[in-house]
Amino acid sequence: MSKQFDVVVIGGGPGGYIAAIRAAQLGFSVACVDAWSNDKGGPALGGTCTNVGCIPSKALLQSSEHFEHAGHAFADHGIKVKGLELDVAQMLARKNTIVKQNNDGIVYLFKKNKVTFFHGLASFVQAVDGLYSIKVAGKAEENISGKHIVIATGSNARPLPGAEFDEDLILSNDGALTIAAVPKRLGVIGAGVIGLEMGSVWRRCGAEVTVLEALPTFLGAVDEQIAKEANKLFVKQGLSINLGVKIGDIVKGKKDVTVNYTDDKGAAQKAVFDKLIISIGRTPNTNGLNAEAVGLQLDERGFIAVDADCKTNLTNVWAVGDVVRGPMLAHKAEEEGVAVAERIAGQHGHVNFNTIPWVIYTSPEIAWVGRTEQQLKADGVAYKAGTFPFMANGRARALGDTSGMVKFLADATTDEILGVHIVGPMASELISEAVVAMEFRASAEDIARICHAHPSLSEATKEAALAVDKRSLNF
Ligand code: FAD
Ligand code: NAI
Repeated sequence: MSKQFDVVVIGGGPGGYIAAIRAAQLGFSVACVDAWSNDKGGPALGGTCTNVGCIPSKALLQSSEHFEHAGHAFADHGIKVKGLELDVAQMLARKNTIVKQNNDGIVYLFKKNKVTFFHGLASFVQAVDGLYSIKVAGKAEENISGKHIVIATGSNARPLPGAEFDEDLILSNDGALTIAAVPKRLGVIGAGVIGLEMGSVWRRCGAEVTVLEALPTFLGAVDEQIAKEANKLFVKQGLSINLGVKIGDIVKGKKDVTVNYTDDKGAAQKAVFDKLIISIGRTPNTNGLNAEAVGLQLDERGFIAVDADCKTNLTNVWAVGDVVRGPMLAHKAEEEGVAVAERIAGQHGHVNFNTIPWVIYTSPEIAWVGRTEQQLKADGVAYKAGTFPFMANGRARALGDTSGMVKFLADATTDEILGVHIVGPMASELISEAVVAMEFRASAEDIARICHAHPSLSEATKEAALAVDKRSLNF
C-alpha cells in the first residue's frame, strides 16, 4: 500500500519547497520529493538556487567584494591593509557553510510544517481514478501517491555544442562556483546574468576576465541607458566585454582551453583561457519524470506547458518555476508555488508578472521592474522619464559608491509608474520600493511626495520620481 498524500510536490527548490510549505499551511497532507544530493550523498534541499545558484553566488560575490575593497577602496578611508592575501579555500568553505545552513533551514521548515520529505528521483507511474502514483528512486525505492501533483523540477545549464561541461576546464554554474584557485585567464561565453556575476567574482579575485557575447548589444533586456552605464562601469573595472562575437571551435588542451571566434568586425580571433565558463542560458528540466507515462504535455521549447494558473494539460497536475514559461528567477518560482497551493485550496492565488523585479548582483548592482524605455517606445506608450545620479546623493558619497543612477518611467498622461531602473549601490534593496509602488499602481508623484530618510540611498529614488516632473531638488 503506497503512502497517500493530498499534494505531492516534485522538486525541493524555491518553487517546490515553498509550494509544499504553503500547501501544508492550508491543511493538506503534503510530500515533497527532491533528488539533489550533497557530496556525502545525503539530501540537500533548496534546488539550484540554494546549492549552485542564488545563495553560493552571492556568498562569493560578497567575499570577492571585500577582497577588492581591502585592496584599494579601504585606503581612501584611511584604513591601511598590509600583506593582503586571498585564501580561496576559506572563501569556498564559507560559501559551503552558508549553503548548508540554507539546506538545513528547509529541513527545519518541513518538520515545522509537517511536510513529509523523500530523497530521490520522482517519476510518474500512472494515474488511476484521479490519483497519481509516483515512484521515488532513492536509497530505497518506494511508491507514493497524490491527488494533486506540483512539478517544480527546475532547469539545467544550457551546453554549447562541441564544448561539453567537464567542470574542470569548461564550467557551468556548478564549476564556476567551485574554482579552487584564481585562474589567470578566465573566459566567459555569454554576457548574461551568470556571466557577469561570476565574471565579477573572479575578476575581483585577480583573474583577467574576457566575456564573449553573441548579441551586438549589451544586456538587451535591460533599459538601454542603464545597460550603457553598466557596460561603461564594468569595462572601467577591467572586464573585457566583447559583443557581437560568433563562437567557433573550442579546443581543450591539458590545462587550458582555446576558443576560436569571429569578432564583431568579422575578424577571426583566438583566445586561450585557464578556465572557461559557459553561461548561455538554462533549459527546463523534465529528465527522469517519465512524463510520457501520463501524457504530460511540453511546449515547443521543452518547458512543461501550463496556462496562466500553472495548470498542465492533466487534471490536478500543476507546474511552477524554471520548468515553465516566464523568467527563471527564484522569487518567481516561489510566487507561483504559493499561488498554486492556494488554487488547490480553492483560493485565488495570484502572480503579477508585470511587477517581478530583476536584479543582477554585480557591483554596482543592476535592478529593475516594469517596462524599459525601449519597450514603451515599441508599445507606442507616451511616457515621461526622470533620472537621478547617485553622485548627487549624500549617503552614496559617504559610502564611497557614487556610480550609477535611478531612473523612473511614468505614463505621460496619468503619471502612473511604468518602470523603474537602477544601476548603483544596493539596487537590489532599493527596487522593492518601486515594486510596492507599482503593485499599488502609484504615480511618480506619490513617491515624490513621500518622506524618505536622510541620508539614505532611497532619496535617489524620491529624487528620480521628482525628476519625472522636472523638479528634482538636489541635482
Ligand atoms: P530548482 O531550484 O532548479 O529546483 C529543482 C529541484 O528539483 C532540484 O533540487 C532538482 O534536483 C529537483 N528535481 C528535478 N527533477 C526531479 C525529479 N524527477 N524528482 C525529484 N527531484 C527532482 N534567481 C534569483 O531570483 N536570484 C538570484 O540571485 C539567482 N542567482 C542564480 C545564480 C546562478 C548561478 C544560477 C544558476 C541561477 C540563479 N538564479 C537566481 C535562478 C534560480 O536559481 C532559479 O530560478 C530557481 O532555482 C528556480 O527554482 P525551481 O524551484 O523552479 O527549480
Ligand atoms: P542569460 O539568459 O542571462 O544570458 C545568456 C547570454 O548568453 C545572453 O546574453 C545570450 O545572448 C548569450 N548567448 C547565448 N548563446 C550564445 C553563444 N552561442 N555565444 C555567445 N553568447 C551567447 O543566461 P545565464 O547567464 O546563463 O543565466 C540563466 C538564467 O539564470 C538567467 O536568465 C536568470 O534567469 C537566472 N539567473 C538569475 C540571477 C539573478 O537573478 N541575479 C543570477 C544568475 C542566473
